[in-house]
Amino acid sequence: MTSPGRAPPPAVTLRHAGGECPVYIAAGILAALPDLVERHLHGRRVVVVSDDRVATAVPLPLDGDRLTFPAGEPSKTREEWARLTDRMVSLGVGRDGAVLAVGGGVTADLAGFVAATYMRGIPVLQVPTSLLAMLDAAVGGKTGVDLPAGKNLVGAFHQPAAVAMDPETLRTLAEEEYRNGLPEAVKHAAIADPEHFAWLEARLDAVLRRDPVVVEALVRRSVEIKAEVVAADEREAGRRAVLNAGHTVGHALEAASGYALRHGAAVAAGLTVEARLGEHMGVTLPGTADRLTALLSRSGFASGVPSSVDLELVLAHMRSDKKARGGATRFVLLRDIGAVAAGSDGGWTHAVSERAVRDVLEQCRNRAAGAER
Ligand SMILES: NC(=O)c1ccc[n+]([C@@H]2O[C@H](COP(=O)([O-])OP(=O)(O)OC[C@H]3O[C@@H](n4cnc5c(N)ncnc54)[C@H](O)[C@@H]3O)[C@@H](O)[C@H]2O)c1
Ligand SMILES: [Zn+2]
Repeated sequence: MTSPGRAPPPAVTLRHAGGECPVYIAAGILAALPDLVERHLHGRRVVVVSDDRVATAVPLPLDGDRLTFPAGEPSKTREEWARLTDRMVSLGVGRDGAVLAVGGGVTADLAGFVAATYMRGIPVLQVPTSLLAMLDAAVGGKTGVDLPAGKNLVGAFHQPAAVAMDPETLRTLAEEEYRNGLPEAVKHAAIADPEHFAWLEARLDAVLRRDPVVVEALVRRSVEIKAEVVAADEREAGRRAVLNAGHTVGHALEAASGYALRHGAAVAAGLTVEARLGEHMGVTLPGTADRLTALLSRSGFASGVPSSVDLELVLAHMRSDKKARGGATRFVLLRDIGAVAAGSDGGWTHAVSERAVRDVLEQCRNRAAGAER
């Protein structure tokens, strides 16, 4: 528990091409927000940006300007970016301003993009309040908005000055939103840390109850893994690609469902399907997919491909995936729980024929259909 006033030192420091980003993770850290603003935004004029739901759910110990937008993905648009930017101009925010982005992944992306572009860029302090934003969106510097033609088609890299995560804010998050973030934590454990995976298996009930001590440990280990992977990226030939585990299939499922499938459910399915693919290719240790399936199903996710999703559409989305090169789609495949299999070409991905992908998707759909009955 943090006492109001001074913030503790950062739990994790993320090193990136442009420098470092301190990540504070502690129950009660929001009480020390004025100290963090002072430390990282150095007397700048701060504009708090959040969606209308978070604005009520998460009280902040800060005065000053507060801009809100309607909660939800439909707000992650150029139009909302323009509205927020116009309001900053009418408030008279100058080059010496800064953004405090408080909310889920939509806020991290939208307010981050406002900060990235306002007067050619002003600092942003990210305060993620959803589990997905803590484990993913608020760390790494990707910002942007959706277009009618697709998600995240316009954006910029803009590393936050700092990130502050208070696991206590997760208490007010809806159950579905909380669970939506869990597959990212499973992914982080599965790609990098067998002991953390076993810890997650043992502590899952406490994680689901949102026991504050356990949630803090979960978030911290996930962010550490992400920071380690990003730091190793330059030395190890694009190692950050391993963060895409479960996402090649996951993104294709999301898109093929017309985004009816939530990101968490899509990544959960993607992790199990890609593990079966790895086992099918003889790259992944047999039993890995079953262990992932067991943990994810305890977290409330059905395994495999939902029968409502059109497999040909899934395959078409994978073909147009940015990472597809020379005809075959490339996948991050596990060697075992806690370790990614190094790619055959010295990188971190494996080219898999569409035929093999189709076979495994069909198998996984059957499995899911069987489980639904
Ligand atoms: N930039 C990246 O690297 C990256 C990575 C992953 C996801 N994303 C993006 O993140 C978005 C999804 O994030 P999300 O699921 O957090 O969506 P979100 O921001 O819409 O939050 C989900 C819901 O939870 C509510 N909420 C958030 N925190 C709350 C709290 N503490 N108490 C009560 N309610 C709260 C929000 O109001 C919203 O209704 C997508 O747009 C996705 O593209 C970006
Ligand atoms: Zn993800």
